[in-house]
Amino acid sequence: MGLLELISPRTYGLALATALALWALCVFCRRKRRPGEAPLINGWIPFLGEALNFRNDPTKFLLSLQQKYGDVFTVHLAGKYITFITNPLQFVYVTKNSKYLQFKELADQISTKAFDHPTTLNLPDMDENVHKAYQYLLGRPLDVLSDSMMGNLQGLFEKMFSQATDWEMGNMNKFCFSLMFEASFLTLYGKDPSAVDYSIVEAIGDKFNKFDASFSYLAASVPIELLGAAKSIRKELISMFLPENMSRWLGASEVVQFRKDLFDMYEVLSDRNKAAHHFAFMWASVGNTIPATFWAMYYLLRHPEALAVVRDEIDHLLQSTGQERKPGNCIHLTREQLDNLVYLESAINESFRFCSSSTNIRIASEDFILKLEGNQEVSLRKGDLVAIYPPILHMDPEVYEDPKKYKFDRYVEDGKKKTTFYKQGRKLKYFLMPFGSGISKCPGRFFAVNEIKLFLVLLLTYFDVEITEEKQVGQDKSRIGLGILLPDTDIAFRYKLRN
Ligand code: HEM
Repeated sequence: MGLLELISPRTYGLALATALALWALCVFCRRKRRPGEAPLINGWIPFLGEALNFRNDPTKFLLSLQQKYGDVFTVHLAGKYITFITNPLQFVYVTKNSKYLQFKELADQISTKAFDHPTTLNLPDMDENVHKAYQYLLGRPLDVLSDSMMGNLQGLFEKMFSQATDWEMGNMNKFCFSLMFEASFLTLYGKDPSAVDYSIVEAIGDKFNKFDASFSYLAASVPIELLGAAKSIRKELISMFLPENMSRWLGASEVVQFRKDLFDMYEVLSDRNKAAHHFAFMWASVGNTIPATFWAMYYLLRHPEALAVVRDEIDHLLQSTGQERKPGNCIHLTREQLDNLVYLESAINESFRFCSSSTNIRIASEDFILKLEGNQEVSLRKGDLVAIYPPILHMDPEVYEDPKKYKFDRYVEDGKKKTTFYKQGRKLKYFLMPFGSGISKCPGRFFAVNEIKLFLVLLLTYFDVEITEEKQVGQDKSRIGLGILLPDTDIAFRYKLRN
């Protein structure tokens, strides 16, 4: 006997009537568009609004709304009203309005929930001081970081030489993860000199991946108690960064050292809270870089014509700087030399175009009128969210010809970096946005690109590399809107020392 048969027709009728009444109440009470506001798309599902349609395929969904309502519209998504700005010529009006369109509180909400540290916004000057640390990701400290990353990566690659005299099989995502996680960690946090043969990937790699898989839920305010072992895993990861552990690590980068000294100045921060802040930074430093490395490698290997040009560019550079391409020979590249690898950089950018989906989001600090291009104005209510969703730009056929096609040299023109892309005949300030924009732009972006370049330089210098499976790797949708999308599966490949 089924459940419905147990319910009497009278009870059933009553339940249906109550549900209908509730639905009608929600519809009646929902937000109505006021004069001056953008077209409003409420959706018909109470509370969720259009969240399911958005989640299914955000780019398709937003493009369909753009066609119907124009470049600016407000969508009800799971209790939030988000005004999307979809024309890249308008993006600058969002970024320059940081007085009314704020980011700090939003970032703090996500970070405190995901990484379990107390808010920093009520500590005197803490936010400004945290931002001061980012100077150590630029200029001379960036050179030091890149050199150190090169040394660490080289050390890890060299360990593979003895096995790779003949074809060695591997899984590409796992390969990228283990090399980039280990080398990035050593570069940023240093190493306990007494721990011989210690591998940070072996120690916490699995836990990191499990936490990472919960990240999108935590960012969406799902209580960690509902996420299986996530709570205990996060606790263990945080405890890695307790002062008693970090004090044993030698060779920490300037950026991490600055943050350590800074947190020590705030007596109200417990050791555990300091550790949670370090863990948050560690996640930021590898959480996107590793999948971005995977995609850059994957697309290159899937396109032999691209691989040949990029490899040739690297070989030429090494030759012209008198560096022999043989195992045991340390390769060193200056910032300028790394910068001049324009085909490599273009290939990395092209993979960013496909796989980056970080929504740039702001919250209106008060009711105000956002002035846009051509005398267009949009009234916003305090607490409303304003969003730029870069995949729409990245797949816009007016900006990028044949946008679904991987063109490794899309960002090269006359042998130099190409930065001129147009919409409606006008040059765009924002044409590729993996790293956010304005006040929330990623401070680690230069280091991230250098890291990916160094990884690919060493890989292609030392090894012949081939994918050995036919299947296409797709994008895991769970991170949509939050950063670089993860691959939905791993893929087998093989590598062998080059002659
Ligand atoms: C491909 C790699 C990377 C991508 C795509 C990326 C992307 C981003 C984005 C989109 C944001 C802004 C978040 C938002 O608007 O909500 C951000 C913030 C941040 N990123 Fe990155 N990132 C990468 C690598 C790195 C690296 C290597 C580091 C550090 C070494 C880093 C450190 C940070 C930090 C600390 C923030 C927060 C900045 C703040 O306090 O406002 N990121 N990243």
